[in-house]
Amino acid sequence: MPPTPRGDEVLLRMVHAPINPADLLAIDGLYSFDLPQDQPLGAEGAGLVVAAGNAVKDLRPGDLVMPLRRGNWCRHRLLPRDDVIALPVGLDPVQAAMLRINPPTAHLLLRDAGLHPGDALVQNGAGSVVARWVRAFAARMDVAVIDVLRRPDSAMPRALLDGDDLAERARAVAGDRPIRAAFDCVAGAATGRLARCLAPGGRLLLFGHLSGEPIEVRSQLLTGGGLTITGFSLRPAEAALGGEGVREMFAQLAAYHAADPPSLPVGAIVPLTRAPEAIARARAGGQGRVLFDLSA
Ligand SMILES: NC(=O)c1ccc[n+]([C@@H]2O[C@H](COP(=O)([O-])OP(=O)(O)OC[C@H]3O[C@@H](n4cnc5c(N)ncnc54)[C@H](OP(=O)(O)O)[C@@H]3O)[C@@H](O)[C@H]2O)c1
Repeated sequence: MPPTPRGDEVLLRMVHAPINPADLLAIDGLYSFDLPQDQPLGAEGAGLVVAAGNAVKDLRPGDLVMPLRRGNWCRHRLLPRDDVIALPVGLDPVQAAMLRINPPTAHLLLRDAGLHPGDALVQNGAGSVVARWVRAFAARMDVAVIDVLRRPDSAMPRALLDGDDLAERARAVAGDRPIRAAFDCVAGAATGRLARCLAPGGRLLLFGHLSGEPIEVRSQLLTGGGLTITGFSLRPAEAALGGEGVREMFAQLAAYHAADPPSLPVGAIVPLTRAPEAIARARAGGQGRVLFDLSA
């Protein structure tokens, strides 16, 4: 149990935290950055304010918040006020626990994609939570999204199946809209297939490694086709925004969530005491996120 909060500190009782692909990579030692060994895992989560130091004027006990920092698979956290984002009143705490990583990732991918109204983008891993947010935010920009899956999903009948002639099929779906951006969370040969979908000068943003394979791209696409390939990672992108920029971004996202409350699929909610079972279930994949109930 952390000590009583002082000054600008806030004490949270954590309620829920999901198991994300990034957590599984961290467990496997394959995450893009070295993480401190003495800190709990958990890229995101939600908690309730228990108490706040006397310099904190805008949070009260019972307020629903999410920590910006990793380390959420625990029962209590003591954090500086600036490392906590207040969430809309009435938001479901289970949904709230899944808003730290993927909405800003989708938002910043779209910011960096060089898209204009009337364009199209193509994304693989289209059944993922990030992909859901990309669809939601792209619709606000009049950008069409061409979804690519590795296997059929009856819930997404219009998605294209990844394969050798993906570029031709994607262009047929895009019609008059130029495919100016590709969001790749798979890597390996899938990167090359997405790259071939792009209009000349298009941008491919690589932000995940679900295949575990090095990327394979026809090099002439970069020389003759003017294609650029850029890696994206949320935490460095947020560091570049600065603290104020991050808070402004989350204020904008919170307004979206308040207007259109999220309903992300939930696969299972498991007490932290059964962590190995929960992690095995998350690794198995399937529909919906596996979350910890941190109050059990
Ligand atoms: N760079 C960053 O800062 C950042 C931030 C957030 C997320 N990410 C990355 O974004 C990706 C999606 O995250 P998420 O939390 O939204 O994922 P998620 O909801 O857990 O979904 C993962 C999806 O990927 C698909 N998938 C798994 N392995 C695949 C493979 N080898 N080839 C093609 N598709 C595959 C699964 O499809 P099936 O139904 O076919 O199994 C599933 O729909 C992850 O790679 C994650 O690490 C990166």
